[in-house]
Amino acid sequence: MLPVEIAGSPIVLVKGEDGVIRAFHNVCRHRGAKLVAENLFSRKTFVCPNHSWSYSLKGQLLVRPHFYGGDSHDVNHSPCHRANLVEVRCAVWHDWVFVNLDGEAKDFSLYIEPITRHLTGYDFSELGFGDAIEFEIKANWKLAIENFIEPYHVFSCHPWLNSFVGMAEREPLTFEDHVLRCGYNFQKTDPARGEGLPYFPNLSAEKKNRGDWFVLFPNFAFEVFPDQVDVFIATPLGVDRCHETIAIYFIGEGAHAVEYASAREGVLKNWQDLNSEDIGIIERMQGGRASERFDGGVLSPYWDPVLQHFGRLTYHYLGEQN
Ligand code: FES
Ligand SMILES: [Fe+2]
Repeated sequence: MLPVEIAGSPIVLVKGEDGVIRAFHNVCRHRGAKLVAENLFSRKTFVCPNHSWSYSLKGQLLVRPHFYGGDSHDVNHSPCHRANLVEVRCAVWHDWVFVNLDGEAKDFSLYIEPITRHLTGYDFSELGFGDAIEFEIKANWKLAIENFIEPYHVFSCHPWLNSFVGMAEREPLTFEDHVLRCGYNFQKTDPARGEGLPYFPNLSAEKKNRGDWFVLFPNFAFEVFPDQVDVFIATPLGVDRCHETIAIYFIGEGAHAVEYASAREGVLKNWQDLNSEDIGIIERMQGGRASERFDGGVLSPYWDPVLQHFGRLTYHYLGEQN
């Protein structure tokens, strides 16, 4: 049982005995206590800490102790649907769970199709979790996502990265539906990117020298290299604060074999350094935008259309709610 918060709503994820991952609103149907407050393992039921109502892992109400008074319990699996946990639509893609709170999103496989069509040849079943690093940032989550996808700042903010792949080698950014994308071919490997790590098996020659970035609107992003996948999630904590998680996955033995330990450490350190540079600039973006004279800015016709698209998507969904 894994409690999470999605857009301010407490949600709990659980893997049932049937192996299916489900999401529920993490709230007891009696008087609204949060059901699960920490990661719990090997539980067969949800039990509310308040008056011990219990629910199956599929969300069905099981027992309400003393519900009818004294020693009079409700143990008949009441058919009252209002007493079952409220399930939330979710989809699992590889190691990642996507939740749709209003249940209105299109089928997830269609939602993510503009990404999956670019991943032919990468066998994601080979991915093994390496490590994750977390950051608290004093900036809106959208600035973090924009910074992740736009490489325009690289020559200025990340000189090392620029020497690995220069600005002229970076392809124009593209977007389609809920997906933003950029990428490049690189000419050389680099220790900070984890030199010597195993590659995806049977990768084409072209993809052995390729890095691709994707954002799946709103806040799930990742980049794919021949030897790793790095997932980036920006979680809003308020209008001017967010939390970033960077989760690093390696290929096959690369995820755990001792011989790759220093390469993995190099990747991790690189992410720490790189992201610290980014956080500094993201927080300055937040600060600058407090100016009453910021009017939306003047955009580069080459680098910034993808950010315009991100803005349009945000406006569309916020507009629908207001
Ligand atoms: S609030 Fe959960 S059992 Fe009463
Ligand atoms: Fe950056």
